Amino acid sequence: MGAYASAMAQWRRAPDEFWLEAARAVDWDTGPDRAFDDGRSSVGSWFASGRINGCWNAVDRHVAAGHGERIAIIHDSPVTGQNTKITYRELQDRVAALAGALRARGVVAGDRVVIYMPMVVEALEAMLACARLGAVHSVVFGGFAAHELAVRIDDARPRAIIAGSCGIEPNRVVAYKPMLDAALEEAAHAPDFCVILQRAELPADLVDGRDLDYREICAAAEPAECVPVAGDHPAYILYTSGTTGAPKGVVRPTGGHLVSLAWTMEHVYGAAPGEVYWAASDVGWVVGHSYICYGPLIRGCTTVLFEGKPVGTPDAGTYWRVIAEHGVSIFFTAPTALRAIKREDPEGRLAAGYDLSSLRTLFLAGERADPDTVDWAARMLGVPVIDHWWQTETGAAIAANPVGLEQLPVKVGSPSVPMPGYDIAILGDDGSPLPPDTLGAVAIRLPLPPGCLPTLWDAEDRFRSAYLSRFPGYYDSGDSGLMDEDGYLWIMSRTDDVINVAGHRLSTGAMEEILADHPDVAECAVIGIDDAVKGQVPLGFLCLNHGTARPAEDIACEAADMVRTRIGPVAGLSAALVVDRLPKTRSGKILRKTLQELAGGGPLRVPPTVDDPAILEDIGKILRSSQLRAEGTDIC
Ligand code: COA
Ligand code: AMP
Repeated sequence: MGAYASAMAQWRRAPDEFWLEAARAVDWDTGPDRAFDDGRSSVGSWFASGRINGCWNAVDRHVAAGHGERIAIIHDSPVTGQNTKITYRELQDRVAALAGALRARGVVAGDRVVIYMPMVVEALEAMLACARLGAVHSVVFGGFAAHELAVRIDDARPRAIIAGSCGIEPNRVVAYKPMLDAALEEAAHAPDFCVILQRAELPADLVDGRDLDYREICAAAEPAECVPVAGDHPAYILYTSGTTGAPKGVVRPTGGHLVSLAWTMEHVYGAAPGEVYWAASDVGWVVGHSYICYGPLIRGCTTVLFEGKPVGTPDAGTYWRVIAEHGVSIFFTAPTALRAIKREDPEGRLAAGYDLSSLRTLFLAGERADPDTVDWAARMLGVPVIDHWWQTETGAAIAANPVGLEQLPVKVGSPSVPMPGYDIAILGDDGSPLPPDTLGAVAIRLPLPPGCLPTLWDAEDRFRSAYLSRFPGYYDSGDSGLMDEDGYLWIMSRTDDVINVAGHRLSTGAMEEILADHPDVAECAVIGIDDAVKGQVPLGFLCLNHGTARPAEDIACEAADMVRTRIGPVAGLSAALVVDRLPKTRSGKILRKTLQELAGGGPLRVPPTVDDPAILEDIGKILRSSQLRAEGTDIC
């Protein structure tokens, strides 16, 4: 039996023993006496009887073990020209100081702290300082604008907010602080204080009595020690898109999160302590939480924190430079980033100038890995390209090719096989399991393994209705797909109103709520259409109020602008098209899938339930004349 089959068999035979054994990879203040406890949440909890600290496991224990001089973080920032290395000992001092400064101002275990920062070392320090105190951080992606930040502040009700004064995009400096001010203006909740990291590129004005300077408070702080918390204490809340405009606050339990990351770093990624591991994502996404911050540090690796883009900072060779310069062994990115590089440098000329011999494996996630991109990357880099499938909700891979255990044959287009802890079933609409090679809903039999969400923050009913009610006894992943005869999973598409734009998970429902807010818009629909680089981009359809005298293009521009301003630039619509009517079923439901087929230009299956097929013809004409291209089109 191979190592993968053996691990799966051990887990199936005795899941508690399997996870208690895995839990030995992290340090506990009090070891858990059992792994699973089915009474403490509607889906049970893991390691609840243990006591543990996340920061100790990520930082202090490596210093205590004599690895204080090992590099913990490499901050590579082509947008500022900085390249900084921080040892585990320095990280410990810096995190202890920030934690001390927060504690001195009343932050205690269980308090929430919102973090709104660009890709700087202090973003990781802020997360780890919260973990040190047992405070629950909630990082908000910098590409979200004030309204989205306000929604998260009101939901999490933080005692403190830690923010950067600005972020740096290739084409501009993005002022974060005015966005924070506007969010606090809009939010009903007010934190006790804000901590602002002043960046040289755009320092911010501080509000008296509310805002504190990050560096000043750290310099004056008494360092804080790690505070052990219960194994099921929330480590963080990370908001993710759901069907409506209200984001879902995914809760990550401390013990399970640490155990899951320790297990996956070793067995999925095959990372050894001291190796350089690079996940080219953002701290605002789950990949950033699991594999820029916690995972590599728990494993004693050096993590690369990259502040730049795959292209344009300064060119499509940046990723290869980072790998060569820092000796990256394991690289994790989204297919969209590779597509962006491939478009600019299809022959890989820029890669040829770098020594990439340190690289052992490339991992892809965040969206479906299309075979073209996988083959191109494999040819260019000469290393295995491993797709793996996971979600914010799980915090780590549900299905992968566990190269740390054993590399299984790669099937391009499939994220491979279920990981221990995941009993994956493909279910039909009536909840019955489907045979191999049949498309259905991808569900996971309960209980979910350590690290997965036990609930949504302050929204247990929503947790049950979003994930547990459709298929009793299962977690509904929201993805559709199939399992082949060899047990390989194939993920096809979402079953809900979530789209994946450049590896970012966005809600079309949230965009529709904003478009509908425009005074001249009577009705609207947003769908995702294919895009050669970003995978999908959002396309809006607007029906205007009868008698609206203003030019339709102006209204379309204003409405699209509202989406960009309220959600953020990452949610920019590729176009907003004004149409007379939207296709609906006789019961009045908008036929978004049919719109998607129409926009995709493929064969159109006119659903028997459509109220008036002539509407489809009208919209088809508008789409053809709107010059929608595969790469999207400008609206205004
Ligand atoms: N702060 C402020 N603004 C941000 C931002 C941030 N952290 N991140 C993105 N934006 C802005 C961009 O500047 C851009 O603004 P613009 O429309 O005014 O130019 C807009 O949001 C869209 O950004 P993005 O979606 O990143 O598109 P892009 O055209 O700038 O770059 C890619 C395209 C594919 C290169 C880029 O999206 C990318 O690197 N994607 C990989 C994402 C990833 O790794 N995801 C993690 C999943 S594992
Ligand atoms: P997020 O929660 O932002 O990580 O997004 C999770 C969603 O992204 C999943 O539910 C899938 O729809 C999609 N996704 C992530 N990884 C993959 C993958 N390897 N293959 C296909 N889809 C993926």
